[in-house]
Formats: sequence, C-alpha cells, structure tokens
Amino acid sequence: MALLPLIIAPDPRLKKLSMPVGKVDARINRLMDDMLETMYAANGIGLAAPQVDELLRVIVVDVSDKNEPPNPIGLANPEVVWADEERILYNEGCLSLPEQYADVVRPKAVRVRYLDRDNRPQEIAGTGLLATVLQHEIDHLEGTLFVDRVSLLKRNMILRRLQKLKKVGEL
Ligand code: NI
Repeated sequence: MALLPLIIAPDPRLKKLSMPVGKVDARINRLMDDMLETMYAANGIGLAAPQVDELLRVIVVDVSDKNEPPNPIGLANPEVVWADEERILYNEGCLSLPEQYADVVRPKAVRVRYLDRDNRPQEIAGTGLLATVLQHEIDHLEGTLFVDRVSLLKRNMILRRLQKLKKVGEL
C-alpha cells in the first residue's frame, strides 16, 4: 500500500468527469487500498479517485465509529439508484478542501449500486452520515465539490482562502 498525494482545491483536475471502470481487477483493488490508506492517514471518512489524480469512478468510505472495528468499503462505478425525499443537513468537509466546512443539504437516505472488489454488482443502503458521504464522494466523480452546493458567497470565500494558503505554501 502507498500514500497518494491529495489534490487540493481550487484545481481544474477536481472539476473533471471520471470514467467508468471496465472491470474491478488487481489494479483497481490496489488503487482502493492506496486510497483507504491515504484516507485513514488524513483522518477522512471518504475519498474519491479524482482526489488522488485518477479520473476513474472509484470511491472508498468508512464511517465506523472510533470505538468500532474499521469498516472499509471500496465501490467502483457507484450510482445512486434511489434517494429519499426527506432531506438532511450536514456540516461537510473534504480532504481536498482542508479545514473548510459548510452546511450542505442532501437526501437523508440513498441506495447505491456499485461493483465490489471482486467485480460483483452490489447495493448499499445508507442513512444519515453514510448517505451524505456516499453522495459527497459520488459528486466528486462528476467534478462537483461540496462548495458547489452552497451559496456563491460561501463558495468564493472558501476557495479564496484555500488559494491564499496554497500561494504561501501552507497547503
Ligand atoms: Ni470530498
């Protein structure tokens, strides 16, 4: 396994559309392992391949509590097949926007279809935090960041702050 460098916003590579995975093979499994290691090292609960400069439809999540055993999940070609009409608000962050947070409203529950590590089709149902994380990561595959789902004012404020930090070499 290996730690992968994270792309920090604003960066045009985070705005690109990711391509579907043809088959979940050893290479994709290695990518998932590296993404999980990178995510855990940064204390994240989700990560999408474009954040580590791979324009592939691959995400990893682990929303287990600190006092629970880890529950890493790797998903290829994840797709929301059902979303609750009820909405929920979370104060979201992102490893590509370090230490920036904003309230985002999303469906409270979703069902996601994907290919697992053995290339088998699966479905996962998530409510609350898991639903939010799954939607946040799938957004990355479309080139959408959580700041694209808040007010223009808030978005510009966060992106300008990151730009400044990058300029002085703090990110
Ligand atoms: Ni993110």
